[in-house]
Amino acid sequence: MITIKSAREIELMRVSGKITAKTLTMLMKTVKPGMTTADVDRLAEDSIRSMGGTPTFIGYNGYAHTICASVNEEVVHGIPGPRVLTEGDLLSIDIGTTLDGYVSDSAVTIPIGEVSAAAKRLMDVTQECLMLGIAQMQAGNRLGDIGHAVQQHAESHGYGVVRQLVGHGIGTKMHEEPQVPNYGTAGHGTVLRPGLVLAIEPMITEGTFEVETLDDGWTVITEDGKLAAHFEHTIAVTNEGPKILTLRDYAEHPDVNRFRPKEEAAA
Ligand code: MF3
Ligand code: CO
Repeated sequence: MITIKSAREIELMRVSGKITAKTLTMLMKTVKPGMTTADVDRLAEDSIRSMGGTPTFIGYNGYAHTICASVNEEVVHGIPGPRVLTEGDLLSIDIGTTLDGYVSDSAVTIPIGEVSAAAKRLMDVTQECLMLGIAQMQAGNRLGDIGHAVQQHAESHGYGVVRQLVGHGIGTKMHEEPQVPNYGTAGHGTVLRPGLVLAIEPMITEGTFEVETLDDGWTVITEDGKLAAHFEHTIAVTNEGPKILTLRDYAEHPDVNRFRPKEEAAA
């Protein structure tokens, strides 16, 4: 069942989304070579709780952490731990906040120090894929328009689109219907209506789109060991167009402006 949110519910999700966004901006600014992924997790948990939110991922299917921290060939669901981040790594941070019963979910991939030109291009294109998918969230469009836009852009750069994991509806639960694939056919699927709230989350790979899960039961890696990037926002369909509920306010942190996509600046 697909639930349509009221204006009041969307406002509650925006307040939740603000905590998620502020936490991600803080991490973008703070995370440095030499820190462990467990350090990043602790900073994230403290940040969410300091604003009155609850980390959504803790307790989700037995998961015990605030963030997923996925490095390099890890696509998503990397478990924070003793791994030390080193110059040149790509770190994908996925985070969810619950506030007053409403969930927001967002992810970014950030460079640790200086990264290769190839890694930068992968991050840029993945972020563009997300923004192009969001641009399709117009009332009257269909679900397939989102996946088609994401897939078209990724594949035009020779990248892979992960099939085994998808975006999702979101609201009082992190995962609601419908599933939101990052691939698809324009003009097909469920009609998008005002009040529909989705988490769009392209997972884009340098090589094959095939992935596998490590023995820890969580960490998803690329089958060929090549890099992956992951960006995610929680977005509402409204009569005034898509409204990004996890939009980051770069003015609060001028020093993270280098991460700011030009498409997002216009949103
Ligand atoms: N944020 C992820 C998603 O978009 C879920 C993380 S899994 C968890 O689906 F166990 F860490 F919560
Ligand atoms: Co999600």
